[in-house]
Parts: sequence; structure tokens; C-alpha cells
Amino acid sequence: QVIKCKAAVLWELNKPFSIEEVEVAPPKAHEVRIKTKEYVQYNPSETKKNLCGGSAVKNLPANTGNVEESVLSSSPGDKVIPLFIPQCGKCNVCKHPEANLCLKFQLKEPRGTLNDGTCRFTCRGKPIHHFLGTSTFTQYTVVDEMSVAKIHADSPLEKVCLIGCGFSTGYGSAVKIAKVTQGSTCAVFGLGGVGLSVIMGCKAAGAARIIAVDINKDKFARAKQVGATECINPQDYEKPIEEVLKEVSGGGVDFSFEVIGRLDTMMSALLCCQEAYGVSVIVGVPPHAQNISMNPMLLLTGRTWKGAIFGGFKSKESVPKLVTDFMAKKFSLDQLITHVLPLEKINEGFDLLRSGMSVRTILTF
Ligand SMILES: NC(=O)c1ccc[n+]([C@@H]2O[C@H](COP(=O)([O-])OP(=O)(O)OC[C@H]3O[C@@H](n4cnc5c(N)ncnc54)[C@H](O)[C@@H]3O)[C@@H](O)[C@H]2O)c1
Ligand SMILES: *[C@@H]1O[C@H](CO)[C@@H](O)[C@H](O)[C@H]1NC(C)=O
Repeated sequence: QVIKCKAAVLWELNKPFSIEEVEVAPPKAHEVRIKTKEYVQYNPSETKKNLCGGSAVKNLPANTGNVEESVLSSSPGDKVIPLFIPQCGKCNVCKHPEANLCLKFQLKEPRGTLNDGTCRFTCRGKPIHHFLGTSTFTQYTVVDEMSVAKIHADSPLEKVCLIGCGFSTGYGSAVKIAKVTQGSTCAVFGLGGVGLSVIMGCKAAGAARIIAVDINKDKFARAKQVGATECINPQDYEKPIEEVLKEVSGGGVDFSFEVIGRLDTMMSALLCCQEAYGVSVIVGVPPHAQNISMNPMLLLTGRTWKGAIFGGFKSKESVPKLVTDFMAKKFSLDQLITHVLPLEKINEGFDLLRSGMSVRTILTF
């Protein structure tokens, strides 16, 4: 059956979302239809980048809900988290023990469709694109089976929805990608929801010093609450931030993280890590089609420069485990949630995010 429901639709880039009635087609083979319960907003730049042409159902990578109808492993009533990186389980990347960028992920050439190349949404007679295979700013959505994880039946959806993107990305970047070591010194550039989650990962891994860097000093109190040992505003110094960090760390930090999405801070993060053994991780998504020019000597001396999507976690198998870890109180998500709004106020939520007033807003349906 086609379901009619409420959704936030983005008809044009850089315009507000409009609340519309959409038709959601039933799932085809290997797909799942989900009733959305809670959703967490993602970085607006992501939305811009991943839209294909005109219209797109406003959807972001992390949300939670109940399976409404399904053809395969999840059954009606299951609690689930949609996954913006699928895990097909069959491709070379899925078979690799460490990597997570499933070849079914439409990262570089997003089609705005499900895996079979078609859409399940229509609005005012027009087909509406999917976003990152999840499309969750809607009361009902359809996703591919490889893009949804069944989670513990008692999970608090209004919190664990953060595990669908921001938290896992930051936390995994520290524990899985950088492999932060006990007693080490870390520098984290950017203290939004993802940067705060990097700090939590550094702390969990036993870092002795976690230096938080942001140009908005209002971010410092929360950074300290989640584990930063000191906070630095680059605007308070004449010299470049990498020089400041090299000085305060006695020659360069062990691990640095760029969690902003700017080319200049990516270079600063690389430069501030120790030249012989420092590891620098790119977490922020760079502006579209821009390149960095760099001197290879920076790496020849021994530095490591790497990056990852979704903290390097294989999505379908890791998300349920992270939810279980959350329920076992291995980490808290409370510091990441600053606002709760109904779907109708979605544009307000984005204003809060852009202005730096919120960390994450949970939308309710
Ligand atoms: N790799 C992934 O899989 C993945 C997943 C989710 C998000 N991201 C990316 O991570 C980045 C961070 O996401 P977020 O939601 O935490 O963003 P956010 O906008 O909430 O936080 C960014 C922070 O950077 C600070 N900042 C801006 N310019 C700065 C500068 N020049 N120097 C120092 N600090 C500066 C801002 O004040 C803000 O606190 C984004 O680029 C997002 O697209 C990547
Ligand atoms: C950036 O690098 C790519 C190669 O990775 C190249 O194709 C492209 O032209 C470069 N863009 C600019 C603006 O230099």
C-alpha cells in the first residue's frame, strides 16, 4: 500500500525545507519501510552536496524508527537505525577486515535513489529523490536492507539516533582510525557534535592531554565536560595555530583531528602533529572540488595522514554493538543533544545548527 504522510522536502538548494504531504511507495525486494520516530540533524553542507538535481526528500543520515514493513531480516516492530553507508557484505571492501566504505555507497556520484536506481517518494505528482539512501525527515521512509541496522528492543530512540552518524563518526575516528594510545596528546580542531565525539573517543582511549581548538569560545565549556583538558582559540594568537600547538605539546601532538571541513585547518592539523610519528585524521568534509597542495616532505619524515567516513565503522554490524555499548553506559550521548523540536520546526533546527547555538537537535515525529 502507498502511505501518505508528512515530510520535509527541499525543493531547491539553499532554501528552507517545506512541510509537505508525500506518498511513500511500499518496499520492493530487499527493502524495508520504516516509520520514523526520532531523527537527528546533520551538517547542512552535506545536504547541498548530495542532492541530485531538483528535489530531494530532506533526509539525513541518522535517525531511528520502527520497521513498518519488510521483506527480509528485520520484522515489523523492530527498532532500527538507517545507515548512510550501507554494508552489503559482499563487495571487496565489506570483505576487507578493516575497511567500511561499501562499494554500494553512492558517495562520489550520488544518484539520489535506492540501490535499484528508483525512488519511493512522490510529492505533488513529482518524484522526490532520496538522500544518502536514508531520507528520514519524513514520517515513513523506505531504505535498502543493507542500509538499516536492527538495534536492541529497549533502546531509547531519542538518544541512540545519534549513533547513526555524528557520535560514531567522531568516536571511531579516535579509537578505530587514529588508534589513540594511552597517555598520548591529542588536538581536536572543531567542537561541534562530531568534534565532541572525537574528544570522547580520545578520552576513552586513555589520552593524557586533549587540546580542543575552536574559534567559538562558547564551545569550550562543553568540550571540557566531555574530556578536553585544555581549550585554545586560534584568534587569541598572532602566530599560526600549528605553531602554538607544537609549542604547548613540546614538538607536536601524537594525534590530531580536523573536524570542521576546511582546507586551511586540515593543513594546520597535519602540521601540528609530530613530524616523525604524528597521525592526523581528516574527519570534516572538505568543500566540493577543492584541492590542497602540500609538500611531500611533511610525510616523508614519518607522519601519517588519513581520513574516514563514519569513523571507519562497518555500519550494519557496528551500529547494534555501539547501541549495546551505550546501554551498558560505556559512553553518554547527553552532551550532544541540546534541542528537541517537532518535524514542522525543522528549519529552526537548521538555523540553530548554523549559528553554533545547538550541538544536535532531535526532531520528533
Ligand atoms: N567523515 C564523516 O563521515 C563525517 C560524518 C559527519 C560529519 N562530518 C563532517 O564533520 C564536520 C563537523 O561536523 P559537526 O556537525 O561537528 O559541525 P559543526 O558545524 O557543528 O562544528 C564545526 C565547529 O568548527 C568550528 N570552526 C569553524 N571554523 C573554524 C576554524 N577556522 N578554526 C577552528 N574551528 C572552527 C565551529 O565554530 C564549530 O564549533 C563537518 O565537516 C561534517 O560535514 C563528517
Ligand atoms: C584537483 O585534483 C584532481 C585530481 O585528484 C584534479 O582532477 C582536479 O582538476 C583538481 N582541481 C583543481 C581545482 O585543481
